[in-house]
Parts: sequence; C-alpha cells; structure tokens
Amino acid sequence: MVMKLLIRSFPIAARQGRSASMLFLGRGLLAVLVCAVIFPPRGIWGDAPTTIPVRRPVDVARGSQGMVVSETRWASEVGREVLEAGGNAVDAAIAVGFALAVTWPEAGNIGGGGFMLVAPTDDSRGSSTDKVVCIDYRETAPAAVSAHSFAQWKELRHARMAGVPGTVRGFALAHQQFGKLPWRQLLKPAVKLARDGFEVDDFLAYSLNTALKVAGVRAEDRYAEFRRVFAHPTRYFWKASDTLVQPDLAATLQLLAADGPDAFYVGRIAEQLVREMELGEGLISAADLREYRAVQRSAIRTDFAGFEVYGPPPPSSGGLTMSLQLKMLQRVADLRQLDQGAAEIHAVAEVMRRAFRQRAAYLGDPDFVAIDPSQFGSAAAARLLRRFDPRSATPSAALAGEIELASGPYESPQTTHFSVVDAAGLAVSNTYTLEQSFGSRIVVREAGFLLNNEMGDFNWYPGHTDATGRIGTPANQMAPGKRMLSSMTPTIVKQSGRVALVVGSPGGRTIINTVMLVTLRNLALGQSLPAAVDAPRFHHQWFPDRIVLEDLPQLRAPELLTALETRGHVVHAPSGQRQGSVHAIAYDPVRQTMVGVADWRRGGAARAAR
Ligand code: DON
Repeated sequence: MVMKLLIRSFPIAARQGRSASMLFLGRGLLAVLVCAVIFPPRGIWGDAPTTIPVRRPVDVARGSQGMVVSETRWASEVGREVLEAGGNAVDAAIAVGFALAVTWPEAGNIGGGGFMLVAPTDDSRGSSTDKVVCIDYRETAPAAVSAHSFAQWKELRHARMAGVPGTVRGFALAHQQFGKLPWRQLLKPAVKLARDGFEVDDFLAYSLNTALKVAGVRAEDRYAEFRRVFAHPTRYFWKASDTLVQPDLAATLQLLAADGPDAFYVGRIAEQLVREMELGEGLISAADLREYRAVQRSAIRTDFAGFEVYGPPPPSSGGLTMSLQLKMLQRVADLRQLDQGAAEIHAVAEVMRRAFRQRAAYLGDPDFVAIDPSQFGSAAAARLLRRFDPRSATPSAALAGEIELASGPYESPQTTHFSVVDAAGLAVSNTYTLEQSFGSRIVVREAGFLLNNEMGDFNWYPGHTDATGRIGTPANQMAPGKRMLSSMTPTIVKQSGRVALVVGSPGGRTIINTVMLVTLRNLALGQSLPAAVDAPRFHHQWFPDRIVLEDLPQLRAPELLTALETRGHVVHAPSGQRQGSVHAIAYDPVRQTMVGVADWRRGGAARAAR
C-alpha cells in the first residue's frame, strides 16, 4: 500500500513541478523500501540467528538393549521407541530415516539417496551369505542426459540438478530383506512429527535461517514453495523453541504409509514430482521414476588392526578409498605411536592424498564401468607409498600419472548419518543426502519434500582434471541411468563376530577422511569413542594440494603449523572450519555395553533403548 502510494506520487509531483531533488529523494526512499522488503535487515521479520550454535560436549549414551544415534533428538527418540516396541535395528533405522526427513530437512530426505550398511545376525540374515550388505539407493541420472549435458550449466540450486531419488525404494528394500514390523508402523512417527509439528532447536534454527537468508531464496519465484514450507509463518526466520509444522509432507508420508513405495515411483507423488520437473525445467520423467531400483551389494571388507572393517562399494567411493587408506597406514607408521602432532598429520595426509588420487582415477558406477579392485589392494598401497617421505610432502601433481592435468581454468567452464544397533546385535550404518544443504532448494509443490541436487557429483567436464579439485576422468562421467560417484562412507566394524563400531558422517569428500580418522583413533590408537569423535580432524583430497585443518586450539599451535609447512605442505586453516558430524556406536569391552556418541559439531543425540 505504502509502495503504491509512493509510486503514484511521482507523476503527481512531476506534474506539480516539484523540484528534481525531491523526486530524486522520493525514488531513493522507494529503492530503500523495496530492498528492505526483499532483503529485510535483522528485526523486520524477526531476528535471524545465523551464527553457529556454541560448542557443547559430545552426547553420550550407554546401554545393552539397543542404541540409536542421529542428527536430531526427535529422530533418535523415534528409533529408540521402535526398538522398545519390538522392532529390530533395520525397522528403527527406517523410522529414523523418515523422521529425519521431517526434523532435519537440510539433509534428511525422501527426495535424495544414500547407502545403508546392514550387519545381519544369524537370525536376521535372510537369504544373504554376506557378513555385511549394502543397500545402494543412490540417485540415478535421468534418461535425458549425456556426458556433456552439464558442461555449460551453472546453477546448482535448480530442478535440473535433481537425480532420480532413491531413498524410498532403498528403505523399502531394506524393509523387505530385514524388517520385522509393518512398513506403515515405521512411517507413523514421521507423519505425526510433520502433522503436529515439533520444537525447533538452535541447530535447526541455524540451518533453516542460513538457507532463508540467501538473497535468491528470499526473492526468486522458483523458491516460493521453499519459503512457503520452510519460512516461519509470521516472522520468516526461526528461533529455538518455535514449532515447525509441515502439513504437505505429513500428507505425502501418510500416502507412503498407506500405499507403500509405489506411491512415490508410480503413484500420486510421482505425478507431483514430474509436474514439478515440467514447471521447473527439470529432467526426471515418469519413466525414470518407474524404472528406479535400489540394489543390494556386498560391502567392501578390509582387515585392519585385528578388526574387519566394512564399507560401501561403488558407486560410493567411500569403502574402497578408506580401505586403501587403512592399508597404507599400516605401512607408513607404527599406528600406536601416532599422536596428534605434525608427524601424524603429515603421514595421514600423505595417505589421504594418495587414496584420493586412486579414487579420481578409477571409481564410478560399477554397472557402467569396470572397476579394478587391485588398484585399491595391498600391492597398490605399497606402490603408492614408494615416494612417501616422513620429512617431506609429495606434490599431488607428481602422483597424477596417466591423469592429464589441465593448467588453466575450464574454458566454458548436506548429508546426514545415523547408526543403530539392536539388543540382538543387528547393526545399521546409514548415510543419506540431498547433496548440498537443502539440496536443490526445490520443494515439490504441495508435496512438501525437497529434491536433491546430486547431479553435481558427476564429473561434469569430461577430460578436465585440475588443481582446484575438479575431476574429469571417464569413470564418473554422466550417462542415462548411471549413479553418480559418492563419498558417503557408512561403516561397520566387526571383531570375533561381534559389532565393534558403527560409524559415518556427512561432509562431501571430507567424509572418507573423517570416518577413517575416527576408525583409526578408536580401533588402532585405543581412544574411547567419545574421545575419537571429539578429536580434531583434518583433510587432504589430492587436489587442491593442501591440508585443511579444523578451527580447534590443538590444530592452531604455531609450532604445528610451522612443522607442517616445513615439510612442504600448504596449510589451509579457515576460521570456524568444522569437519563432518559423526554419529557412532561402539561396543565397550570393559563395561560390556554399547556406547553411542553424537558429534558436537552439528548437534545430534544418542539414545539407549531400555
Ligand atoms: O554423495 C556424496 O558424496 C555427496 N553428495 C555428499 C554431500 C555431503 O556430504 C554434504 N554434506 N555436508
């Protein structure tokens, strides 16, 4: 109204011969008003708490009747209740996964994909002879793509970035293979959380506000549904203790509960999704959805320090890359002697860089490319370490080998993990994602769920690998129906038939290194799980050729930084840097109980069943 009056007053002022300076003043005022509506300063739509919540201790729970650790207390409590109602760890994991789609929308999802490792007990094994299996529910590329489809594309937050979602088929396959309770019962808590709402905590307020304050999200039409669903109904921004209600998502989940996964892939939700693609210029067709399949694969096994470590196979790079790291680590150092000084960081970073080089060279969707496992075996570990020097960094370029490195820029150019173990010892390690935080930020109209932007995980620029970290090798180039390479590393460790550790993390390529560091510290260095999760983390991914350090006092000592630089490392230590968010469960042989630990870095909660 005020704006309309102001706009109307300009011609009147001009007619009445008012001075040019007054007109100028009026236009200035109008511009300020328009800006204030589109980009409101703090206070107009409520305060926007966009500083990360203060550090708190890791959340620890102990018990022997079952354990659930996830990113939100709501989801962990849902999992605990399912265990206490007689469900097994797979039932609880499915219920947690759906509850996170409601309570942690930046990564919990039904519009994304992931990997679920299951370590069955003899009673729950079903037809599988594997000690640990992987349910691969990674997204696939729509049929409409080719290897070069995205080479000119710039917009990461767009419907076109969405791969065909796998989460619902993945959970359904896990349920069919291992579940005990009815499917419908596993969705009930998520329906209730979405329909009745739940209390927002400071981490969720931070997460929502961080997305809501982005200028494009406030202004652009394509995010109108995102604003309608995720902005606070009266204040726009969120505070801890507000209530988030998601009625459209409740209806979608209710439909999934009643009609099963086909509602998503061939039924009403599929129709809503395809309509969203038509309106938003996305690529997923009804046929892409109809043809999507989750796949059960064997997990990757590595023997390490007296334990069996199981990780996800391709199309995740996590299992093989971490396996190679563990094999190299046993060669470069006496593991028990490693501390958190420059010698450890140097040795481990050298191992990280070499394993990431192999990842770039060989890994992609195994249904499309032949992967040679020997490139991740003991002989490869020995070969890659020939140039290792405990006093000096190996330049990443020197490891490129047959991968041609581009010298100039290319011419045209958040994930969440949860762990569940039940009283019988059945274990689930699940990491799933929308790729970036809130994925494409495209909410399917009237269906209340977000679509991933996972197409970004393909190698977009065939043939172009460079020092910035861009990879152009063939194994992970785009093709219709192909799964994009992931770094998700849900891991289960066994010893003498018992589950010793369940672990995983978000964080893109840092995931592999985060999971490896926690595994190394807990299994080989003998740190308790709370200490191993709490400990500072660092990351090297071959390119960019640098070590990235967390912003923690232990990693900020000048003598440490100097010692690393003296060895030839470029050290990148951004302020506020946090790496991953580990939600893990270990067997504590001293107390003979399970210990569940939720990371402090993004919140999270461990809950023991009684
Ligand atoms: O699959 C992958 O490796 C990535 N899309 C994961 C993204 C991620 O972890 C972002 N979260 N922090």
